Amino acid sequence: MLENKKIVLGITGGIAAYKAAELTRTLIRAGAQVRVIMTKSAMKFITPLTMQTLSQGEVYTDMFAPTDQYDMAHIALADFADAVVIAPATGNVIGKIASGIADDLLTTTVMAQNKPTLICPAMNDKMLANRIVQDNILKLKKYAFVGENGVRTCPGGASARSKSYADQRAD
Ligand SMILES: Cc1cc2nc3c(=O)[nH]c(=O)nc-3n(C[C@H](O)[C@H](O)[C@H](O)COP(=O)(O)O)c2cc1C
Repeated sequence: MLENKKIVLGITGGIAAYKAAELTRTLIRAGAQVRVIMTKSAMKFITPLTMQTLSQGEVYTDMFAPTDQYDMAHIALADFADAVVIAPATGNVIGKIASGIADDLLTTTVMAQNKPTLICPAMNDKMLANRIVQDNILKLKKYAFVGENGVRTCPGGASARSKSYADQRAD
């Protein structure tokens, strides 16, 4: 099903960033081509070298990095993608995308495409319960598939898989 599918994987700066490594391995094993975009914060949690090795390709981190190709990276990546996956997605990046902000390579690539997009929120329960975050998630559900909160690693976090406030409101 994923054979030859082209996935742009965005990794943001949450504690669950390490899970993107396993996700990438799974996608590659399933036959997908994966190109990785990492935010500056993501690189505090997992290295581009790890992601480059696992994705078997270049890792994109800088919108303004000179390239030898005519196409700008965000346009080339947007055109390449059959689908865009953001995993993990921080509250910050969810807010930026929901607000139409494109101030780094990941958010600019998201803005440059209309492909199927999967956003995987991953944050502490208290952050997830914040009403602004919930409104942003609700807004994104109009344009993207938004998964359940995926991180249970934060100390003090209660069950992260309980029904989210946005889902309750959407019912
Ligand atoms: C140790 C640590 C863990 C963090 N974990 C998360 C997290 O799981 N989810 C989240 O939304 N933000 C988390 N943050 C906050 C983000 O790193 C911060 O909002 C950052 O600006 C996100 O940048 P980005 O969205 O461009 O990647 C964490 C911060 C620190 C210092």
